[in-house]
Amino acid sequence: MIGEQKVLFSGMQATGSLTLGNYLGALKNWVSLADEYMTFYSVVDLHSITVRQDPAELRSRARRLLTLYIAAGLDPEKNCIYYQSHVSGHAELAWILNCFTYMGELNRMTQFKDKAAKHADNINAGLFTYPVLMAADILLYQADVVPVGKDQLQHLELTRNLAQRFNAIYGDVFTIPEPYMGKTGASIKSLQDPSKKMSKSDENPNASIYLTDDPDTIIRKFKRAVTDSEGQILYREEQPGIRNLIDIYSACTGKTPEETVREFDGKGYGEFKMAVGEAVVSTLRPLQERFQQLFQDKAYLDGIIKENAQKAQYYSAKTLRKVQKKVGFPERLF
Ligand code: TRP
Repeated sequence: MIGEQKVLFSGMQATGSLTLGNYLGALKNWVSLADEYMTFYSVVDLHSITVRQDPAELRSRARRLLTLYIAAGLDPEKNCIYYQSHVSGHAELAWILNCFTYMGELNRMTQFKDKAAKHADNINAGLFTYPVLMAADILLYQADVVPVGKDQLQHLELTRNLAQRFNAIYGDVFTIPEPYMGKTGASIKSLQDPSKKMSKSDENPNASIYLTDDPDTIIRKFKRAVTDSEGQILYREEQPGIRNLIDIYSACTGKTPEETVREFDGKGYGEFKMAVGEAVVSTLRPLQERFQQLFQDKAYLDGIIKENAQKAQYYSAKTLRKVQKKVGFPERLF
């Protein structure tokens, strides 16, 4: 809580480009959350360097991601959208929390095991303590809720344990965060393998619609989308490809899956795929226009970035000072 308001914190990595799945499943539904919560959306560049990055590319991807969040409708006056590296408290609290985290706990993190296997030539200490930095992100803002995917639940559970451990020693310092269970959007699947989620890190570019794909690319990807040989547009488990296309069309048009099925009754897959592609193109058009506009207006964007970093700095400093005092660091007389 900050004052009377509940706090929502989310962190996102600037790896890969955001997809239609990120938009319909998450972002789009977050727009109205600022009415209910004090929201923080952090581009977590400190986390990114746990794997080797090209500096210019990291900077550019991080800026595009931040811009996309705003373009997707998150008002930067109401939502604190900022770079993690602009607020030094993340690293400072992470250090302190490191001293309250057991090696054994971190050893159990499945994402660490996966990433260590994938980057066997660079298993650095940052990769190992990645979840502690994530805990610091969340606890720094006294977050009540954190919207996370299943893959991040274990990290959130660790965050809760660290907060409880710290509070048990020093009194009520941290809010214990919960996963955000509110309204979520459609779960969009890969266009090439509808048994998998649409992912920003899929190696096959035809599997995902990126938010910055141009209309021709979008239409082409839908034409190539994997379907089946049933030849009927029905909303059922046995036709996961068609079912996914129905979900996408419904999410873009605001119709129910049943209405979509009725609308395309007796139509062929080719025609349906075109209609889905066009619905996606018109859904993304305003977002893409806004993205271009924002991206070109360097002064405006820089202003937003600065103001929001200052806001994040202000709230994070409150928690950090409290923690520093609790663990026994000397009072600051300057
Ligand atoms: N680890 C998260 C991911 O890869 C990103 C992240 C960093 C995060 N800090 C966070 C998510 C804090 C939620 C809250 O998706």
